[in-house]
Amino acid sequence: MDPVRNPYAPGAGQRPPELAGREREVRQFEIVLERVARGRPERSMVLTGLRGVGKTVLLNTFRSMAIQRLWGTGKIEARPEQSIRRSLSAAMHMALRELAPRHRAPDRIEHVLGVLKSFAQATTDDERTGRATRTGPRWQPGIDAVAVRGRADSGDLEIDLMELFVDAASVATDLGVGIALFIDELQDVPAKDISALCTACHELAQNGGPLIVVGAGLPHLPAVLSASKSYSERLFRYVRIDRLNRVAADHALSAPALAENVVFEAEALEALYKASDGYPFFVQAYGKATWDLALRSPITAEDVRVAAPEAEEELAVGFFGSRYDRATPAERDYMRAMAALGDEPVATNEVAASLGRRPASLSPARDSLIKKGLVYSSERGKIAFTVPHFGTFLRRRSE
Ligand SMILES: Nc1ncnc2c1ncn2[C@@H]1O[C@H](COP(=O)(O)OP(=O)(O)OP(=O)(O)O)[C@@H](O)[C@H]1O
Ligand SMILES: [Mg+2]
Repeated sequence: MDPVRNPYAPGAGQRPPELAGREREVRQFEIVLERVARGRPERSMVLTGLRGVGKTVLLNTFRSMAIQRLWGTGKIEARPEQSIRRSLSAAMHMALRELAPRHRAPDRIEHVLGVLKSFAQATTDDERTGRATRTGPRWQPGIDAVAVRGRADSGDLEIDLMELFVDAASVATDLGVGIALFIDELQDVPAKDISALCTACHELAQNGGPLIVVGAGLPHLPAVLSASKSYSERLFRYVRIDRLNRVAADHALSAPALAENVVFEAEALEALYKASDGYPFFVQAYGKATWDLALRSPITAEDVRVAAPEAEEELAVGFFGSRYDRATPAERDYMRAMAALGDEPVATNEVAASLGRRPASLSPARDSLIKKGLVYSSERGKIAFTVPHFGTFLRRRSE
């Protein structure tokens, strides 16, 4: 059928034509927004899940919901070993710029922008002690205000964030709205920064300031957060984003098709669910390939069968391959050994045994795979792939 009208959208962060099966999470976030705006105590949300389940898409949906309520919003994607000071400044800048035109007192806005500027420009402890990598001349954050010296610029991220958050929140309070900052790939935020962020959120929650930090990341994120702050569980509500059930997956496929006057036969939907296993990325990928190859509506199970190799090919390159390519030879050996042991989380000891190595000698490979976001520790002593069906992909590759 006409590929131009193909509604499906496989791709990282690509907005799906239909956000299926996330009604509960959307409702929960509505309540969070409402409560925070009224100064009620509320835990923020942190979305966790495997690669391609739709965390980024849901985070973006949350952001749209906040914008619709006239909140100020900003979003960052964390990078390993990179302090969040700069990226968070940019996100906060965006949030404040959304609020500024509606504020009646320009000097209040001017002041908080000045605080933000001094926050952004502050020399961090690492820079002072020379531990940070030099990034050339002093960074100019592009904030059109006079820096307010002595506020949010101590260099200690924890203190600085607290001061910045309090001042920014007070501007939102004036307008009866809030500020929401979204952090994707939260597991990549350096431990020190996570800890500072938790403290700042904790502080703010206690005096009811309408500012929330909403995160998304891999399944071990709760462990990462509680390792840095024991009270993180009281700060965030962890919401596990998972595969779509059959009803939601069918809806994800049928609703966008119907908008184009195309329908699926029941057997076709069944075949698609079998192929995709309900993982949103795969739902989109198989849906897209099937649409392109089908001759007419209704789409049949035979269409799905013919299209499946096409979809698998694309996934092997785009979804699996791009990640596999990031691994070094030693890391690939490690992952192949994991894959050979099955699809459940495997004991790191067993991986070592099957490679005929001492467990300690494999720690570097394992740690760098964790850093690259390819595997995660599902529980103590166990390891699992962050990418669904990655084991199958690796086993097929080595056939
Ligand atoms: N609820 C949903 N219904 C249908 N399709 C969805 C849904 N959520 C996400 N998708 C689709 O799944 C794909 C992956 O989404 P997204 O990039 O948000 O996943 P992710 O969890 O952020 O993955 P990663 O961990 O790799 O960043 C996209 O193509 C998106 O369109
Ligand atoms: Mg994502």
